Amino acid sequence: MFDPILAPSILAGNHAHLAESEAIIAKHGLKWVHLDIMDGHFVPNLSFGPQTLKDLRKESKLFFDTHLMLDNPHRYIDAFAEAGADNITIHVEPDYPILETLKRIKALGKGAGISVKPKTELGVLESYWEHINLLLIMTVEPGFGGQAFEPEMLIKIETAAQLRKDRGLSFRIEVDGGITEETVTLCREAGADTFVAGTAFFKAEDRDGFIRVCEG
Ligand code: DX5
Ligand code: ZN
Repeated sequence: MFDPILAPSILAGNHAHLAESEAIIAKHGLKWVHLDIMDGHFVPNLSFGPQTLKDLRKESKLFFDTHLMLDNPHRYIDAFAEAGADNITIHVEPDYPILETLKRIKALGKGAGISVKPKTELGVLESYWEHINLLLIMTVEPGFGGQAFEPEMLIKIETAAQLRKDRGLSFRIEVDGGITEETVTLCREAGADTFVAGTAFFKAEDRDGFIRVCEG
């Protein structure tokens, strides 16, 4: 349905020189960068905010795939949109007006994504399927790079791909966490088309080889 896309996460880049991490992505001919935003509440870690995106936007033409790991993402949609996000993904787990937030993202002309943590069942997304451009299936507990892929998530990817087909919907299925040469292939076979990789991209000895496995 969609061409495969590798979206490297600059969470695994050099935070003193994030523009250089973006430049590495662009130099390899990739089109997307994944930006992990953490608030220290929804996840036990902190990363960066809209000002960082705004400054990175000036340095890059990459598609900004923005993953909000926030308890109150609805308060920051306008700020991230203005800063230059292209897709904004919110989580389904916290308590806030989710449908309104998805609509707001679209009204601002951005792609709207929704994400589920590993223990969250796809059933909770019933009201949102028709309002999303992207489903982000977390394949580790969100919060930190460098964790091991949870193979139980493969069935969730298969279920989402089947649901998308059965209902004639059109949204990307993205996976995030522990994506390596081995796990990316399993995810693609299960039906995912968009692959976030932090550690495996930035620490790869053969980055072009890794890209070929992901997008080939
Ligand atoms: C985790 C983040 C991921 C993370 C992936 O909370 O959402 O995007 O950067 O890192 P790796 O690829 O190292 O598992
Ligand atoms: Zn992410």
